[in-house]
Amino acid sequence: MARPSIAETFNSTSSDFDLVTPFVWGPAGETLVARAQIALGDRVLDVCSGTGASALAAARVVGPDGHVTAVDIAAELIDRARTSAYAAGLRNIDFQVDDVTTLPGRGDSEYDALTCGFGVFFLPDMDDAVRRLLTLLRPGGRIAVAVWHDDALYDFTGAYFTEIARVTKTPPPPGPRAPSDGPPHPITRIDTEEKITAWLESIGAVEASASILELRIPRTDEFSWSMVLGSGLRGALTGMDADAIADVRAGFLQRLSDEGITEADCDTLIGVGQRPEN
Ligand SMILES: C[S@@+](CC[C@H](N)C(=O)[O-])C[C@H]1O[C@@H](n2cnc3c(N)ncnc32)[C@H](O)[C@@H]1O
Repeated sequence: MARPSIAETFNSTSSDFDLVTPFVWGPAGETLVARAQIALGDRVLDVCSGTGASALAAARVVGPDGHVTAVDIAAELIDRARTSAYAAGLRNIDFQVDDVTTLPGRGDSEYDALTCGFGVFFLPDMDDAVRRLLTLLRPGGRIAVAVWHDDALYDFTGAYFTEIARVTKTPPPPGPRAPSDGPPHPITRIDTEEKITAWLESIGAVEASASILELRIPRTDEFSWSMVLGSGLRGALTGMDADAIADVRAGFLQRLSDEGITEADCDTLIGVGQRPEN
């Protein structure tokens, strides 16, 4: 079975993605916008937008004189984001289905701020891609990225991938929270305040800093399985039949309970910086 593309994986999450929004994507998106110091009238580029947690938060802040462009490679998530924006009466946001690593520069419409929630570590060449995105900002424009902090989710995903391996009898596919015998996942280069600050500076941002949003979600079976189905973790279920998925689900929930995991550590690290003035 060929590995699903990133768009296939995230399109498959679309019916469940927003089950996670009130717990994780939503608060992280709101905080990302606050830390990016987005203000009335700003022009914002939100990349890897998913169903719009940070894009919609930005649109609420920038007001009618501002504008948000939300871009994601997964059309079904963008459809949901568009529907939510419409329902919320936001008319200052447009949506684009695109690969953010190939977005063309638009010299005539530079952005005041660039936001990316839980996306940069999916980009094939993270440094090159984000360095390029920085050039879409006006001089002095702000960049803000949210990623998992340090050990966030590892206990939780450890239980999940153990069950994936048991049921499929193969090692789990690579991913930002999957165990790996190979090279460390790029997220491990940006998962502490020091590392993400140094990384932002290494790709050309200035005035970089970082902070942590503590997000601890009580472990319920409902939240735990929603977190699998409504995130990139779902990719590991691709190609399994319903019985195998039910087997993973039961084993995963039992393991979380047996291991005494009472909460999902979804602590989020937010790194911010600026494009140099010149
Ligand atoms: C974990 S989701 C986060 C979504 C949203 N920012 C949020 O915080 O709820 C990661 C998103 O990155 C998107 N993505 C990954 N690689 C991408 C690429 N090369 N171009 C555009 N979107 C991408 C996925 O489709 C997915 O919607």
